[in-house]
Amino acid sequence: MGKNIIIIGTQWGDEGKGKIIDLLSPNVNYIVRYQGGHNAGHTLVVNNKKTVLHLLPSGLLHNHIFGVIGNGVVISPRDLLNEIRMLQKQGIYNLQNRIMISESSPLLLEYHVAMDQAREKRLHSVDDNNSNGNTTIIGTTGRGIGPVYEDKVARRGLRIGDLKNIQLFSVNLRKNVNYYNFLLSNYYHSKVVNYDVIIKDILSVRDDLLNMIQDIPNTLDIAMKNDKKIMFEGAQGTFLDIDHGTYPYVTSSNSISGGVCSGVGVGPLAIDYILGVTKCYTTRVGFGPFPTELFDEIDLHFFNIGKELGSSTGRRRRTGWLDIVALRRCIQINSLSALCMTKLDVLDGLKEIKICIAYKLSNGTQITCTPFSVDEWNNLSPVYKILPGWLGSTVGVRSFNLLPLEAKNYILEIESMVGIPIDMISTGPERNDIIILNNPCL
Ligand code: IMP
Repeated sequence: MGKNIIIIGTQWGDEGKGKIIDLLSPNVNYIVRYQGGHNAGHTLVVNNKKTVLHLLPSGLLHNHIFGVIGNGVVISPRDLLNEIRMLQKQGIYNLQNRIMISESSPLLLEYHVAMDQAREKRLHSVDDNNSNGNTTIIGTTGRGIGPVYEDKVARRGLRIGDLKNIQLFSVNLRKNVNYYNFLLSNYYHSKVVNYDVIIKDILSVRDDLLNMIQDIPNTLDIAMKNDKKIMFEGAQGTFLDIDHGTYPYVTSSNSISGGVCSGVGVGPLAIDYILGVTKCYTTRVGFGPFPTELFDEIDLHFFNIGKELGSSTGRRRRTGWLDIVALRRCIQINSLSALCMTKLDVLDGLKEIKICIAYKLSNGTQITCTPFSVDEWNNLSPVYKILPGWLGSTVGVRSFNLLPLEAKNYILEIESMVGIPIDMISTGPERNDIIILNNPCL
């Protein structure tokens, strides 16, 4: 039997999943996105050339991979096709026959972007900020992701498969444009969108989109029966999950491993191994709780050495120490089999390295589980264990034995704290800058 694996982020996204997925791709056949949209940014560095993918599955740079976009992923047609064109220009082989999209994937259209941006802009106003939790500025990517998922659960969303019947599509599109324009102009006092422009635009790419749709549950079922290996690629991270993250400062989809089943149409028993990608420190973009956040010279170190600028929006990432309390929760709710630690090299040269092992509440009580309400998240402080740093460089190290003693101890300490193995340690941006202790795809 093929071995099917899920790769997810254990923090607030940007853990370095793209590199790991790309690295493991030679030994799988299908790579499947199951949630999110082009809010994600997966950075791949191959032969010093950097490619950032937002919507396409990361493994497509390998010629043999089929890239699948499941029903849980929201699709901006223009962004999808631009990304395909970018890869075609780079000479990536036979892409049009290697990309498959669920016909149930929701379409992200111009009014979603307009709504996302108008809402965040309006929430900057003092009035709304002082009211209640429903009017929180999230610091979204501004790409329209939230509004598309809202449309989906409100049962008014348009899906790629709806393009098969263009008459009906046009009627429903007009209804949605009217609905959004009413909100945009009357509530948000913002620019409205133009139906004619949207329909013209979508008609110009309709055939390209319809050519890529497939019955994804069936395709993957057949693949599994033929012993093919499937890798499910998470976007964002566990604490941006709509249900299990630091709500409301989250994205609008289920980024946890459980999202695979509903976001693709495979059952839980199809999964054999789940890898949690964890940065050796923590970063987050946008607003929201972040217990180990730093505002000192270590923050500058992480920012400068770790090049912590958002790959989708170019925003500066907030940085902080590794948080074992959050990581344990993540292991619990995702059934993680193992961890892949990334960016170990960014810790090079630090005198001491802190690991958050508990949270202290304002009344002095210590807790070792993450809370549920944002209010509680905001009112706790980290309790640290301090480990010695190392002076030598770990950049590009490919064998555990060649790491400085303190770096080995750092990794072993994390492993003993979380109770699952660390199967991989990434030591630089290049595809091969990695220590592989256990390759789950072999
Ligand atoms: P949205 O997904 O654009 O609605 O943004 C919601 C929150 O998720 C914001 O804090 C974003 O910065 C964050 N976010 C969305 N996608 C990513 C990602 O790929 N990496 C890191 N943060 C993300």
